[in-house]
Amino acid sequence: MNDAPNPSLIPILIAPHPVLKRPARKVLSADADLVRELIPQMFAAMYDAPGIGLAAPQVGHSLRMAVIDLTRDDVRDPLVLINPEIIARSTDMATREEGCLSLPRQFADVTRPAKVKVRYEDAQGIKREIEADELLATCLQHEIDHLDGILFVDHISALKRNILMRKLAKEMRAKGT
Ligand code: NI
Repeated sequence: MNDAPNPSLIPILIAPHPVLKRPARKVLSADADLVRELIPQMFAAMYDAPGIGLAAPQVGHSLRMAVIDLTRDDVRDPLVLINPEIIARSTDMATREEGCLSLPRQFADVTRPAKVKVRYEDAQGIKREIEADELLATCLQHEIDHLDGILFVDHISALKRNILMRKLAKEMRAKGT
């Protein structure tokens, strides 16, 4: 995490922020210009953070779109999801530690379906489906949650959530942001 925000990057909203709690609306063909502009901005902000996923509400646009890149080595693997929806979930569950660029430096174990099938449109507007397990399954569910105003902390106990949100608020105050 960079301490000095890069002014050329689109800012990432930090929780609690009302846009993060609001269900986002569907991307329409009339949004094409905005979407074309947002995709590179979202990737740039995500790579800079650095993070592996970013949803449009996190940069102040209440639209159903997100970007993901699970690359751990040098080769990037960008995935653009427009209007993604989960069309199938496994009954077996998996628990993974999650974080979020809107809750910097906060982490918690979240249990979700281990596998999901997601239908979405790509950056060219082509309808696609993806079946995912492991980290990608977690990441897809986490990003699609953002489009419904849900944060990973909404999946943990109220007690743990309150502790984590207080810690975040304290850290953000200490940073003077
Ligand atoms: Ni997130």
